[in-house]
This record gives sequence, structure tokens and C-alpha cells, in this order.
Amino acid sequence: MACELFFLRIKPAELTYNQIRRIHVSNVAPIAIQGKDEQKAQAKSEAKPLRLKTFSIYRWNPDAPSEKPKMQDYTIDLNSCGPMVLDALIKIKNEVDPTLTFRRSCREGICGSCAMNIGGINTLACISKIDSSSSKSKIYPLPHMYVVKDLVPDMNNFYNQYRSIQPWLQRNKEPEPGTVQYLQSVKDRDKLDGLYECILCACCSTSCPSYWWNGDKYLGPAALMQAYRWIIDSRDEKTEDRLGRLKDPFSVYRCHTIMNCTRTCPKGLNPGRAIAEIKKLLGGIATKEKPGLQTDALLSQK
Ligand code: SF4
Ligand code: SF4
Ligand code: FES
Repeated sequence: MACELFFLRIKPAELTYNQIRRIHVSNVAPIAIQGKDEQKAQAKSEAKPLRLKTFSIYRWNPDAPSEKPKMQDYTIDLNSCGPMVLDALIKIKNEVDPTLTFRRSCREGICGSCAMNIGGINTLACISKIDSSSSKSKIYPLPHMYVVKDLVPDMNNFYNQYRSIQPWLQRNKEPEPGTVQYLQSVKDRDKLDGLYECILCACCSTSCPSYWWNGDKYLGPAALMQAYRWIIDSRDEKTEDRLGRLKDPFSVYRCHTIMNCTRTCPKGLNPGRAIAEIKKLLGGIATKEKPGLQTDALLSQK
């Protein structure tokens, strides 16, 4: 603006707020909304025959509680849409209906926030390819959860259950922070593979019939797999306490090994197996191995 004022030979102090505003507004060039690549893509998609696809999406608005939930159809051209279901949802929200509500963040299967039921399967919308057949794709929120709005389920119970398994490393005696590192052998570290990768998307828990009927008392596969992740960690010393908290008729034993959880996990994990391992520890069929490396030995040298 300084150069504009110089060009107009006006001292800034002589200008009123409105005069300054007028100079700014009159000098704003129209914004090019589309980049060259986008223009090319649009021109290309306009030249192609339309690839229309209809998505039938669950809608419920808490601000209109007297209206029942309904399915709403949206038809879009796949020529101008990315390949994943999340791309279609974003396109619908941006171009057709801004009231459509869903969660998403990373768009690459890392954050777990876009979990929903797509074509009858609990999965992540961002890594789920659009079924390009002519049939309608049906999208619902994760099943048997309270709905906050549209595709957004209430995750409070799920997160409280996760909190209840105390998902952090616990030792009998904790060293001064920053004085020693906790040791773990390569073999012991390998035991965490297939467990730590869980992104807590809740696809597994909400596909489990036992969790549907007893979700208030049965912890469900996601929380239980994380319970096992800490039980089996060679650095954790609170194994007995952790198992003790699970010893009741509901927390673990509502799992009937139906394995829907493992079948649906979008990260390819096996929560059903982790639950079976907990049952073995609870039943005394298996015991936790002694750690390959002892951090206490380091502490005693200090
Ligand atoms: S294996 Fe257990 S946790 Fe998994 S779906 Fe079946 S009952 Fe649910
Ligand atoms: S085990 Fe799989 S489905 Fe279950 S919460 Fe973790 S990542 Fe999601
Ligand atoms: S947006 Fe993060 S997992 Fe889909």
C-alpha cells in the first residue's frame, strides 16, 4: 500500500479509514478460483461422457429432533471426483449440500476419524474406493452407536472404555525422568507388532454383535486389543493388575470368537486373536514371558 500511496502522492496520515479501504478494494484483482491444472481437468472431464454415481447417505439433524432419520440421495459425476468415498463426500459437501456432516482429517488411513459403514462394511472412507458400478452406494454411520449428526457417531463410550484399560506404560518403581531408558529386546519388541498399529477407528468394535448388545459392559475388540498390547509389553510391570481388572463376566468374556472384528479391520489387524490371548492368560493356559532385557539392572548400576 505504501507504494500505492506514493503513486497517488498522498501522505497516510491524511487518509480516513474509508479512503484507505477504498484504495484497497479498488486495487483487488479478481481472484482466479481455478488453477491451470484444475481448469485442464475440468475441460477434460467436460469432454468425457458423464459417469454419474448416486450415493444414498444417512441423514439426521439433532436441531430438528421431530424429523426422523432418512436416507438422502446425491448424484455426482465421477469424472470430476477423486477415487475414494471420502473424495465423493467432500465433493457433495463442497458442491451440493454443505449441511452434510462427517468426520475426516488425515485422508490417508492414519487418524481413524472417517470410519463409517460403506456398502454394509465398517471401514475408512478415505481408503475405500468408490464402487463405480451403476448401483447406489449406501453410507451409514458406524452401526449401533448413538448419532451426533448424519455420519458422526458419539464416541464417548468407546473412548471411556479405552481410558479404562489404562493405555500407558506402568512400572513398580519409576526412575527419575531422563535418567535411564527402558530396555527391550528385539524379540520382545516384535510381540507388539500387529497391536500398536491400531488407529482406534472403532470399525471392529461396532461390527461385533456382542458389543452391539452389551457395549456398556463389554469392552469390545478395540479396547481389548490395546489392553493386550500393554499386558504383553515386556517393559510394563502391572500385568497382574491389568488382568485383574478384566476378570469379570463381561469385560472380556462376552467375546464369542465370531471374528467380525478381524474381518472388518481396515488396517488388517487381528483383534480377535488378541482377545483369545487375553483369555489364555486369564485362564492360566499361558503366562507372560520374562523380559529379555532388564531395565532394573541398569538402575542398580546408577
Ligand atoms: S471375535 Fe469377539 S470381539 Fe471379535 S467380533 Fe467376535 S465376539 Fe466380537
Ligand atoms: S483394531 Fe482395526 S478396526 Fe479396530 S480400532 Fe484398531 S484399527 Fe480400527
Ligand atoms: S481421514 Fe483419517 S483415517 Fe480417514
